[in-house]
Amino acid sequence: MNKQTQFLDVPTYRNVLNTSFVHRYGNGEDEWSWDIGMAKAARVFLEHLGDRSDQLILDVGVGRGRDASELIQAGHRVTGLDIVENSSWPLLRKRWGERLELVPCALQDWQPTLLRQFDAALDNGCFHHQHPDEWQSYLDDMRRHVRPGGLIAINVFGVDASNLTPGWREMDNRRQGYFFTEQGIRDTLEGFGLTWERLITIERQHGDAVYLLALVRT
Ligand SMILES: C[S@@+](CC[C@H](N)C(=O)[O-])C[C@H]1O[C@@H](n2cnc3c(N)ncnc32)[C@H](O)[C@@H]1O
Repeated sequence: MNKQTQFLDVPTYRNVLNTSFVHRYGNGEDEWSWDIGMAKAARVFLEHLGDRSDQLILDVGVGRGRDASELIQAGHRVTGLDIVENSSWPLLRKRWGERLELVPCALQDWQPTLLRQFDAALDNGCFHHQHPDEWQSYLDDMRRHVRPGGLIAINVFGVDASNLTPGWREMDNRRQGYFFTEQGIRDTLEGFGLTWERLITIERQHGDAVYLLALVRT
């Protein structure tokens, strides 16, 4: 598997990602915000958080806050990071007050002012768009922000059958998405030092293929 296929350098690709997501949110083309498969991934993550309420959750690529809102309604507090501050953020801040912190920043650049670790982290559709040269630092950052033994859920594009090939697919504005096999996402996350727990396959509402929700621990 060649993870470097036709990739721009990291700074240029970061600009590409930003341009693509600004365009999608700005034009109401963020269909993932209403994707029932992604909503299901967040519910499965919530079920795996256990009974303890008031947990501190990091939502990487928080988007329009669909998952953050569900987690807050279940009694938790959320810090959401995103490279794009979209039009839903003012309402979310008003609705959830101090239960929700929204930070316009890439995970790789985030230097939190508070010294704390999160009980768990959710990445619902963000990791598979990152530059392959940043996979290690991205996952290291996620692990650094989560307490030892804490749950991390990473939902990625997956290939569902033998007729689909794993690898990069170009999306809009040169944004890339990596489609994993079940073994591929496991090897990747374990290879970067995360402890494997389980995988859940989820139907994808938009496009072909599936979502693969990987549950790992720090
Ligand atoms: C496919 S969307 C999913 C959004 C949300 N999790 C959901 O399920 O609706 C991916 C999100 O990740 C954000 N994003 C991309 N790269 C990021 C990074 N390095 N750090 C933080 N957010 C990022 C994008 O702006 C976008 O909002």
